[in-house]
Amino acid sequence: MGESIYGLKRSHRCAELDIANVGQKVTVMGWVHKRRDLGGVIFIDLRDRSGVLQVVFNSAISSDLFNKAETLRNEYVIALNGEVVKRDPDTVNPKIKTGEIEVMASELRILSSAETPPIYIEEDSDVNETLRLKYRYLDLRRPDMQQNFFLRHKVTKLARDYYDVNGFLEIETPILQKSTPEGARDYLVPSRVHPGRFYALPQSPQLFKQLLMVSGFDRYMQIAKCFRDEDLRADRQPEFTQIDLEMSFVNVEDVIEVNEGFVKKVFKETLDVDLGTAPFIRMPYQEAMDRFGSDKPDIRFGMELVNLSDIVSESGFKVFADAVRNGGSVRAINAKGCARIFSRREIDSLVEFVKTYKAKGMAWIAVEENELKSAITKFLTEDEVNKILDRVKAEPGDLICFCADKNKIVYDSLGQLRLEIARRLNLLNKNEFKFLWVTQFPLFEYDEEEKRWVAVHHPFTSPMDEDIQYLDTDPGKVRAKAYDIVLNGTELGGGSIRIHSSELQAKMFRLIGISEEQAAERFGFLLEAFKYGTPPHGGMAFGLDRLIMLMAGKSSIRDVIAFPKVQNASCLMSNAPDIVEPKQLKELHIRSDV
Ligand code: AMO
Ligand code: AMP
Repeated sequence: MGESIYGLKRSHRCAELDIANVGQKVTVMGWVHKRRDLGGVIFIDLRDRSGVLQVVFNSAISSDLFNKAETLRNEYVIALNGEVVKRDPDTVNPKIKTGEIEVMASELRILSSAETPPIYIEEDSDVNETLRLKYRYLDLRRPDMQQNFFLRHKVTKLARDYYDVNGFLEIETPILQKSTPEGARDYLVPSRVHPGRFYALPQSPQLFKQLLMVSGFDRYMQIAKCFRDEDLRADRQPEFTQIDLEMSFVNVEDVIEVNEGFVKKVFKETLDVDLGTAPFIRMPYQEAMDRFGSDKPDIRFGMELVNLSDIVSESGFKVFADAVRNGGSVRAINAKGCARIFSRREIDSLVEFVKTYKAKGMAWIAVEENELKSAITKFLTEDEVNKILDRVKAEPGDLICFCADKNKIVYDSLGQLRLEIARRLNLLNKNEFKFLWVTQFPLFEYDEEEKRWVAVHHPFTSPMDEDIQYLDTDPGKVRAKAYDIVLNGTELGGGSIRIHSSELQAKMFRLIGISEEQAAERFGFLLEAFKYGTPPHGGMAFGLDRLIMLMAGKSSIRDVIAFPKVQNASCLMSNAPDIVEPKQLKELHIRSDV
């Protein structure tokens, strides 16, 4: 009897029942999703994680039972016995799995009553997110939220299986560790035993996974929790999860290939989406910038950037000519048909939009049947106008949008403008999955504030062999053996082939202004390890939360993290971070001045 609950033992989950079970006596348990009284008959929608089942209480069968059913309210937890019967044909609900049957209740136990929940437990209910997060455990009861976690479970399970089959070992790395070099701010944990010293929570297992290659494990994977104290956005949480990988004796293509295989398998086995057998596009960083103004291009639609600098470099329109003269560029996108679709007000709002990306303005030409509408054509020669229209392949109805500035601003503004116009035109289909690899990232970027070169990825990223020659003379020109996997304009993951030669590593540190002492102090254990026989190695990490978000068609990773944090990194449910006892602080040798 030990396994029964109040004398009952569950025989099925709610939605496991269907027409095949008709005539069977069953015991089901779950939450009252809805109660409908139809005078003499009460219908209960009983819900558990499998779905919803209709249960019927008939006063003609037992008035005691019926009276008890009348006391049921939403979210009561109940157990009941009954017989599975076929519904009348006119009450069949083809929308749900159990829609052809119902259970005639013969016994009811109330396992737990419930107060009126502060949020509706409904699919896609439109409750404000603050309330949802405060009562997250209720929010998570919603069937659509539960789906996200079934998906997440399946994907992590597939990851473990796939990488296992491909020779990867799952190995855990420390959570309490020394600061890693991913470039965000660390979360620190004070040491009680070592006054004044701190652990850092891992921004990623980067150094440890490289050490595992030195140890000879050959291929490593981990579903790894990472922590970064950075400004949060819809696709950024302070703690998030990576599918983290490292491989020995590989080049860029080897890493890309095995991980692309994973993505294809996951989409097929969870969403039944066939991503095809052809390799995903590999696009060098510079091409991505020139064509899409972004290193994470959304290639579900065109509207690519077009460089017009050569046409207008000598133009009488100073805005254009000066931009080119000052080392920048003039580029445009052709918003096909948008001159017909957008009103003057809407075009003005696009001008305001690009200004939020530091553009000084957005010149435009509306191409009409017999004329051009524009504030700038009067500053341009006929020849310039014709060449521009020709290059952007303008046709009547098109809206040509220009940006002239430093390259970074031009890429940013037009790249974002392209996405904004696509949003307004409803071109972004969530069920279309367009992947690509962006490769050959620059190894360094120049930090104007600090007046020095910094590593774009992390300082262990290997330069491309043919660019090593520029390390001393022209660091900006050096490309890295680094790659990102991009899905529908979101960076899903990234990685690189690492430096495994001590000399090259030392040079790298010198170039980014890390002294030998600093390097020894921060990464000494890794550099030391490299002295004892290091296989060439490389790897990458997927952002698991982002992957699930896109697969589930959600626009925030909060929807696929059970207990996420909000913008200011607090948990609305548990109220973390919180103050602690003075005694705890004292033990940790910490004085707080707030
Ligand atoms: P990177 O820093 O590019 O690389 O991170 C890899 C992927 O992790 C996801 N990600 C995040 N997801 C949610 N919230 C965040 N705050 C967040 N930050 C990153 C992104 C990103 O593409 N150690 C290297 C990998 C390597 O070189 O092997 C690394 O962590 O999807
Ligand atoms: P102005 O001469 O400043 O009145 O600008 C004429 C037109 O050029 C306006 O439509 C501006 O929005 C546009 N414009 C100004 N600066 C830029 C720029 N840097 N890039 C593209 N268009 C610009």
